[in-house]
Amino acid sequence: MPGIVLIGAQWGDEGKGKATDLIGTHVNYVARFNGGNNAGHSVVVGNESYALHLLPSGIISPTVIPVIGNGVVVDPEVLFQEIDGLESRGVDCSRLLVSEAAHVIAPYHRTLDKVTERFLGKHKIGTTGRGIGPAYADKINRVGIRVHDLFNADHLHDKVEASLHQKNQMLVKLYNRRPIDVDQTTDELLKLGERLKPYVANTGLILNKALDEGKTVLFEGAQATMLDVDHGTYPFVTSSNPTAGGACTGTGVGPTKISRVIGVSKAYVTRVGEGPFPTELFDESGEWLRQQGHEFGVTTGRPRRCGWFDAVVNRYASQVNGLTDLVLTKLDVLTGLKEIPICVAYDVDGERYDDMPTDQAAFAAAKPIYETMPGWDEDISAVHAFEDLPATCQAYVKRLEELSNCRISAIGTGPQRDHIISVHSLID
Ligand code: GDP
Ligand code: IMO
Ligand code: MG
Repeated sequence: MPGIVLIGAQWGDEGKGKATDLIGTHVNYVARFNGGNNAGHSVVVGNESYALHLLPSGIISPTVIPVIGNGVVVDPEVLFQEIDGLESRGVDCSRLLVSEAAHVIAPYHRTLDKVTERFLGKHKIGTTGRGIGPAYADKINRVGIRVHDLFNADHLHDKVEASLHQKNQMLVKLYNRRPIDVDQTTDELLKLGERLKPYVANTGLILNKALDEGKTVLFEGAQATMLDVDHGTYPFVTSSNPTAGGACTGTGVGPTKISRVIGVSKAYVTRVGEGPFPTELFDESGEWLRQQGHEFGVTTGRPRRCGWFDAVVNRYASQVNGLTDLVLTKLDVLTGLKEIPICVAYDVDGERYDDMPTDQAAFAAAKPIYETMPGWDEDISAVHAFEDLPATCQAYVKRLEELSNCRISAIGTGPQRDHIISVHSLID
């Protein structure tokens, strides 16, 4: 079994951490390929609950080798905090491998993220403030710092100088802030590099060799399809490619090594930050979903915006990622609803859209066209076979499957590892 990609099919927080942990116990490597510590992935094992931001969720399984690929932006300070936190709880992080080609989030990226958002005012994106956008912008502008740059003082000084040259002009003249000192920043980064060094490796080579030897690699996506800088609700997106293609560019593994692409979706939808969201609920149903589903961000603690399942989004996710399977999470949260609306298409100024509009002005104007399914009252958290779900619950899942153009292979019925109904195996 070669490479398996796992990605978010909506706007993030679908339960990728739980799904990764579940599949991760059966694979050899779990590799992150995009984003950074803007991610917040929850894994619950027994009484222990872990919130992972930069480390791959596979780190919790002692047999897995966790990898941070070249497509990730790494904030070393955050990485060490996360490692220290996990190791104090008995999780061994010494197996971690970090790509030498991954870009580094420096303190000035965090500063720039915050001042830029403030400067944008009503046009702000609602970022996590972790420096993600500015770090990726430097990568694309070719003034980024890569992990291997941290091990050569002269070289690093040069790079920091190049990177700060324009930023300092902006900070002083546009944002009315103090300039950032090149020497001090270089020293700080060199120190961080010393601690990072034992984890650093040519991860592209290691992953390719592992795949050639018949080992299995799970590529763990962060963020989600609708937050993709190319395919999402631009400009209200993150600055990386969380879609399946990103797994290849973000780790250095070719597409022929990928045999499966698993999407993760909630049985409803949530979104954090700004940007259009056609099925968003502003009434008591939205508040009910937020409370029932504990919809508060793992990274920022922000309340998540909640809405009904949007099949246009899921059909689009199937298309963009070439999904082979869908993991449907948080079905248990809907227990107790009399009726459950599903958005099947959009109405944009009187025109019906069955497919995702690319024009964001059209998307912002999209009104959901709903069909309604009957709900169920029974507690489903102890159910382990699809046939044992209430009939109306089965019908709801079947309808989502049909509308999403992708088979549903697993269903989440609670946050724990064993709160899962397996319909088709995800690992053979
Ligand atoms: P991620 O960013 O995609 O990994 O998702 P998050 O961890 O940010 O948010 C998902 C939340 O839902 C976490 O608190 C999970 O523990 C929880 N969760 C995952 N699957 C289920 C499920 O099937 N039912 C319930 N009730 N909670 C779930
Ligand atoms: P996981 O992996 C949900 C959102 C932010 C903001 C936009 C850009 O846990 O699903 P950024 O800091 O990336 O520049 O912010 O993207 N965002 C997420 N929303 N889940 C995430 O990660 C997210 N990571 C970023 O709220 O709207
Ligand atoms: Mg999350």
